[in-house]
Amino acid sequence: MSYELDPLPYDYDALEPHIDEQILTWHHDTHHQGYVNGWNSAEEELAENRENGDFSSSGGAIRNVTHNSSGHILHDLFWQNMSPEGGDEPSGDLAERIEEDFGSYEAWKGEFEAAAKNASGWALLVYDSFSNQLRNVVVDKHDQGAIWGGHPILALDVWEHSYYYQFGPDRGGFIDAFFEVVDWNEPSERYAQAVEAFE
Ligand SMILES: [Fe+2]
Repeated sequence: MSYELDPLPYDYDALEPHIDEQILTWHHDTHHQGYVNGWNSAEEELAENRENGDFSSSGGAIRNVTHNSSGHILHDLFWQNMSPEGGDEPSGDLAERIEEDFGSYEAWKGEFEAAAKNASGWALLVYDSFSNQLRNVVVDKHDQGAIWGGHPILALDVWEHSYYYQFGPDRGGFIDAFFEVVDWNEPSERYAQAVEAFE
């Protein structure tokens, strides 16, 4: 099987003025596409090596699968975590669980923003299926710092390709812009799926 890049779920300029059309165009069409291509070619390399019985390049190819698949999966999530209709706070069961596990929405948000400022990759809200609780996670690149059993609920990309063209070194300005367009519909569904699977 090979993986394909889905179109953005909205127009490239749909998140303006918060996030620039040029950023979304490069980010989706060039960077995200690169992870999809990288995943497919690493899988092909692994398959060829299995067939030939020569595994000399398989270690690197396995590493490339992890890096590129993580990049593809998290970007898919990130696009769905924003919309022109976004900008609200979470509601329903997910909002209740955030209050239960972090004390309040404000405490969760402060911690998530700290994760986003600290990461060299991503800030994630995950459902931790080992401890059965929500957690914020600091991820470097696409996969370093992952917690085993952690199911991503909300993803914020803080690679420089995500904001530098518009915000320069002001990553905090980009994090504020994300919260102007954050859409909690998909995270609420992903949270419900995790609860059903693990509790
Ligand atoms: Fe990215």
